[in-house]
Amino acid sequence: MIAIASDHAGVALKAELYRQLQDRGVEVEDLGPSDATSVDYPDYAHLLARAVADGRIERGILICGTGIGMSMAANRHPAVRAALCHDAYTAEMARRHNDANVLCIGERTIGVGVAGQVVQVFVDTPFEGGRHQRRVAKIEWEEP
Ligand code: RB5
Repeated sequence: MIAIASDHAGVALKAELYRQLQDRGVEVEDLGPSDATSVDYPDYAHLLARAVADGRIERGILICGTGIGMSMAANRHPAVRAALCHDAYTAEMARRHNDANVLCIGERTIGVGVAGQVVQVFVDTPFEGGRHQRRVAKIEWEEP
């Protein structure tokens, strides 16, 4: 199960990506917002990040104007590894090497076609594990 959420600056791309995912038979939940009324991106980032953290959803997609604010807020949750991706390559590496469980996209920075590719790669690409597992485990900061 995948969830998708945005702020007002990402709501149009969210609707398009939701439709694409449904067309591909991917189970996807839209966590809002439902229109372009101005909202605060951290509210939606935390809503989705908590659903990942408590295991209700496996992966999430967050969209704002740049994807930056969403990634900053989502990454405050220890269980979340949010990756801001601009193309298919960064999305592939975010999955293969970083085991990203949240994808962040900027509606104002990439086109609909590229965003569709990014989402498809994010959904379809497995984590490589191996040496990357050790590195991913070290992401969480622990006082020495
Ligand atoms: C909203 O104008 C914009 O600041 C927001 O969507 C996002 O880009 C923040 O990182």
